[in-house]
Amino acid sequence: MDRFVMNGGNRLKGDVTISGSKNAALPILAATLLSEGQTVLRNVPDITDIAAMIELLRGLGCEIHREGPDVFVEVRGETHSHAEYDRVRKMRASVSVLGPLLAKRKQARVSMPGGCVIGIRPVDLHIRGLAKLGAEITLDDGDMVATAPRLRGTEVFMGGPFGSTVLGTDTVMSAATLAEGTTVIECAACEPEVEDLANFLNKMGAKITGAGTPRITIQGVEKLTGCEYTVIPDRIEAGTFMVAAAITNGEVALRNVRLDHMVAVVDRLRAVGVNVEQKNGAVIVSSSRHLEPTDVTTLPYPGFPTDMQAQLMCLLCLADGNSAITEKIYPDRFMHVAELGRMGCDIRKEGTTAIVRGVKKLIGARVTASDLRASAALVIAGLVAKGQTTISRVYHIDRGYENIVPKLQRLGADIQRVNDKEKEKDNEND
Ligand code: EPU
Repeated sequence: MDRFVMNGGNRLKGDVTISGSKNAALPILAATLLSEGQTVLRNVPDITDIAAMIELLRGLGCEIHREGPDVFVEVRGETHSHAEYDRVRKMRASVSVLGPLLAKRKQARVSMPGGCVIGIRPVDLHIRGLAKLGAEITLDDGDMVATAPRLRGTEVFMGGPFGSTVLGTDTVMSAATLAEGTTVIECAACEPEVEDLANFLNKMGAKITGAGTPRITIQGVEKLTGCEYTVIPDRIEAGTFMVAAAITNGEVALRNVRLDHMVAVVDRLRAVGVNVEQKNGAVIVSSSRHLEPTDVTTLPYPGFPTDMQAQLMCLLCLADGNSAITEKIYPDRFMHVAELGRMGCDIRKEGTTAIVRGVKKLIGARVTASDLRASAALVIAGLVAKGQTTISRVYHIDRGYENIVPKLQRLGADIQRVNDKEKEKDNEND
């Protein structure tokens, strides 16, 4: 089990290239199950969640290999349609195979994902959507078992208690591509990753309009064929590097960024006093030492993303005053609060809001990563904390950030990845 050892205080300076989007690439990979012939996906991040999806697809009959950022996929066998508990438990996005398997193979058996450290995370909206398309779905031994000789287009409402659902919209949209007739998804998620999946499906021959808006229309087609497609840049990785640049009072040029996907994040960063500008094809992020406090509420896109909540909270810990951060997507997504507290942050949680009182400095400490974005916040804190910070359980960060250590080192950060057997024993006793 690896850990990161960091010595804070260096200003980040230089260029960093942002990788392809994890949350776009995962459902796009799953959607290759719908196709015939070979698909070439470009700009696919080399992270452990993608490796897990590739393994899952191999188990479902796909032949897959990777050459750098390019992934080549071809469906070779369609006899096995079971996504087992062990895989789904490790990565919730495994549920993305449900819609494509059902539409293409007429049946799917996918283990019901449990909760995870950021909350309960139900899949009722995925099930309701597929049932509306005519699937019969039962629960057997913890698996969702879905069958449908052919799905039928209809109107599907995807709103839930916390707004729209990203992967739920993907499930219904993917399944509807091969349905008979037209499907209209109302209250669809508008995230850029949903739009990217729609663009990919269209490139394979689907007929989807309106993706990126709350109403998506899908006209069913007879078949989809393999294609070549480039995944969008990861807006959350970009936002994480923006905060890292800002907190170290640095100046970083980010390449391969879609700033139009980051309007809410850039708005909040500017409110804090961070400069974000586009120059010569790059996005330049810099900040002066003075950070203003601000309030932020996480919301479905185009609102402020929940996946950037922990990182922004870390930045606001060094602002000159009090900030309020309200979480409206995952009410329990505050695992980072206690660990940031160990580094000198002054944060009080009141229900689904965290009140952050700005402090003058952060102090290095031994901390534990609890989930992907919480770990990113701890790395950001470690960049600026006085003295040494050791972050254990960094496998969480490897799920979603490609080469984070070398990328930060090239920008001047003092960060090392260490594999320490003794430490591993300590952690196992936690
Ligand atoms: N929800 C339901 N019922 C459902 C599905 C969702 O009530 O059937 C609720 C959820 O519990 C949550 C809200 O709806 O309160 C939104 O969840 P959503 O379904 O949109 O989340 P997701 O699709 O499972 C994706 C990302 C998450 C990201 C969320 C929100 C992927 C692989 N995951 O999850 O990313 O936080 O959308 O934007 O795309 C991450 O990358 O760190 C991450 C957790």
